[in-house]
Amino acid sequence: MKVDCHHSAGSSRSPTWHPVGWRLVTPRTDAPWWRSGVVYQVYPRSFADADGDGVGDLEGVRQRLDHLEWLGVDAVWLSPFYRSPMADFGYDVSDFCDVDPLFGDLAGFDRLLEEAHSRGIRIVVDFVPNHSSDQHEWFQASRRSRDDPKRHWYVWRDGRGPGEPPNNWLGAFIDGGSAWTLDPATDQWYLHQFLPEQPDLNWANPEVVEAMHDVMRFWLDRGVDGFRIDVVHCIGRDPDYPDDPPPWSEIPHCASNEHPSTHAHIRGMRALAESYDGDRVLIGETALPGTRWVAPYYGRGDELHLAFNFAATHAPWDAVAWRRRVERLAEELDPRSAWPSWVLSNHDIVRHRSRYGGGEARARAAAVALLTQRGTPFLYAGEELGLEDATIPADRVVDPGGRDGCRAPIPWTSDPGHGWGPSPWLPFPPDAARRAVDAQRADPTSILHLYRRLLAARRASPALSLGALQLLDAPPGVLAWRRHQDGDERITLVHMGDRPVVVEWRGVVEVASDGVGEGDELRGHLQPDTAVVLRP
Ligand code: NOJ
Repeated sequence: MKVDCHHSAGSSRSPTWHPVGWRLVTPRTDAPWWRSGVVYQVYPRSFADADGDGVGDLEGVRQRLDHLEWLGVDAVWLSPFYRSPMADFGYDVSDFCDVDPLFGDLAGFDRLLEEAHSRGIRIVVDFVPNHSSDQHEWFQASRRSRDDPKRHWYVWRDGRGPGEPPNNWLGAFIDGGSAWTLDPATDQWYLHQFLPEQPDLNWANPEVVEAMHDVMRFWLDRGVDGFRIDVVHCIGRDPDYPDDPPPWSEIPHCASNEHPSTHAHIRGMRALAESYDGDRVLIGETALPGTRWVAPYYGRGDELHLAFNFAATHAPWDAVAWRRRVERLAEELDPRSAWPSWVLSNHDIVRHRSRYGGGEARARAAAVALLTQRGTPFLYAGEELGLEDATIPADRVVDPGGRDGCRAPIPWTSDPGHGWGPSPWLPFPPDAARRAVDAQRADPTSILHLYRRLLAARRASPALSLGALQLLDAPPGVLAWRRHQDGDERITLVHMGDRPVVVEWRGVVEVASDGVGEGDELRGHLQPDTAVVLRP
């Protein structure tokens, strides 16, 4: 059924609120849930397949809520499940207010939302404001003629000369290709910072702003707890569309797009989210070169609540490099009273276990680093299983951006089908039987149980969930920090070096990445690729 965003249920002032579980109605502190909470990213295609067609779906997510509740996450961020021709696997949306039949339907979404809420798990949905699919009816109208009322909902320009695009911007995932495509029907070029199938919406047009606000209202009215906003730094653009100077001209334009109008648009989204009750969160994907670029998108407490901090996704497994990133984050965000986030893996990058090398021990130590840092951690489904990227044979490559490896299906069971239909859309990750959820749940020494213990420790400790952070001097190779809040204190030691070291700190080991010695006094030695959380 086609749903019109303008006619969603309820109004922006009286949202439909679903029954909530005890964790939602008894917050641990006065801080909004998204500061102390842990967000778990579900890439719906790859998470769980209820109908056996080889592609994950919303009913699959609902059926696996047990896993997420047992693990102890506070919120789920669902990557796009909207109607889409799937040129970019859902980030090319042809109807922002409907569920693609591959993933289910709106009634199924409502069931998932209601059941998640009843278990105390919030649901954050992806919002893709920068572009639509070229199959969206808005773009179909826009490309029809230069006079169509929807023409200026997208960005159309004349070329510089015959066959020459309006400027030198490069698109993403098209191998150095232009961010402009000539549409012969009207002999003008349209902008697409990503694939040609993803034309950029024109946020300089107030009608577009209103239409996209309607999209937000549609989902807020249904009861979602917020949005992860796709490449939100791309929506405001220099109206002169000047050439990118070197070295930016060598990489896709989206990696450096900056325009002040973006901030006004984000403030508009924030005001809209705040017209609803219940701490609806805006989490921005501001995939810009560094923290200095990202920090302004928090505004003065009137733009994003959280911006993804991708610093650790670019950092090697090296204590000096990590320390620098932690310091930079504090330097840039603290003056704005902005709350950080931490990400190690997602659906766009090689999983950190594969990236870092170092096997499971290192992945375990990384989990301690992520979950005891100051800031909201984002877990990417499967990292709690210690998954590596899948090897994708050439004839099974489907993503134009080369990201299939990290999108391999989650193995739920140890049997050969791993809980999926006969032909999953991508191959399973390595060692799937041993890493499957059922096998690891049965093994208290598994990495899955480590994640669960870390989440429980974080939840129970004001210092770990909300406390201040102080970096500590430590032996070479070791990253050490102290967290404290209201008399509660924890120390984390992560050994990223390659020789055992002696450490002076004393305290009870609350969580150890290898599970050894938990509940006992720290023995004073730390092995490479291990980490501990101490209660002094
Ligand atoms: C960022 C998303 O994370 C990625 O998967 C997508 O391809 C681009 N934005 C374009 O929407």
